[in-house]
Amino acid sequence: MVDTLKQYIDSSQKMFQELMTKCIATIDIPEQLKKSMLYSLEAGGKRLRPILLLASFEAYSSNVEKAFSSALAIEMIHTYSLIHDDLPAMDDDDFRRGLPTNHKVFGEATAILAGDALLTYSFELIANDPLLTDKEKVYCLKQLSQASGPSGMVGGQILDMEAEKQTVTIEKMEKIHALKTGELLKFAVTVGAYLGKATDEQISHLQDYAYYLGLIFQVQDDILDVIGDQEKLGKAVGSDESNDKSTYPKLLGLDGAMEMKNRYTEMAINLLEKANANSSRLLELTNYVSERDH
Ligand code: IPE
Ligand code: IPE
Ligand code: MG
Ligand code: MG
Ligand code: MG
Repeated sequence: MVDTLKQYIDSSQKMFQELMTKCIATIDIPEQLKKSMLYSLEAGGKRLRPILLLASFEAYSSNVEKAFSSALAIEMIHTYSLIHDDLPAMDDDDFRRGLPTNHKVFGEATAILAGDALLTYSFELIANDPLLTDKEKVYCLKQLSQASGPSGMVGGQILDMEAEKQTVTIEKMEKIHALKTGELLKFAVTVGAYLGKATDEQISHLQDYAYYLGLIFQVQDDILDVIGDQEKLGKAVGSDESNDKSTYPKLLGLDGAMEMKNRYTEMAINLLEKANANSSRLLELTNYVSERDH
């Protein structure tokens, strides 16, 4: 019997949690750094990026073990991005994944280093994976550096910062969202499909799909920052307003933001069909991203 989406998400979260803990807990690194890295990794979170990577792989192949190092790597990069995003110099937030933020517990210097360590260790993990060929390693590492670096997430974070206290155009917001959030989701979908041996054409359609998925994801994140439940979210609401961020609700109002999100969802679903994936799971995940309450 095929699992429901909830069962799929629950069992994948559990599996990734165990893999990640094992992976960090067994390396020989300074104790305080390990504690700080594990604190944020084990705090939970939806594990959406590794789950998307897995679902994209499974749309084309079985034997998912090949996808694990890239799935863990992207969750580590994402977790590092959250640790740094919460720092006083950035969004200055006190809660994340239901717990005090990393810098509140370990201090700013250790939080910065824990982020740096998660970032760099993610590359080490892929480079050392015995299940990947050298060609596959180069592909995954190239995608990972592009998605997380200056032309990806980090680039988006600086545009996001520069857009504080400003009114920007929809096009500019799309650019910010696509980079700061979309690129990591795109990595997940691209590498999952590639390792699953999708064709170049299928990968290209999936990348277009992931662009819209990133927009949907961040519009919903912005909406939840206004109307979400702090308990469910595990992070403070109202953070965007206090930092005077450029968000869809600020630009278009809540109804306008929801309308845009529905438009993006339609686009994403059309592109998913084109990718000719065994994509019922990806379709379910798309709706989940769009309607999630945490
Ligand atoms: C939050 O990401 C940061 C954004 C990109 C908006 P998630 O909402 O996926 O955070 P976790 O992983 O579930 O904690
Ligand atoms: C952050 O976006 C995206 C990252 C690259 C971390 P937000 O600043 O909106 O994320 P939250 O709301 O703090 O999770
Ligand atoms: Mg931010
Ligand atoms: Mg933030
Ligand atoms: Mg947010």
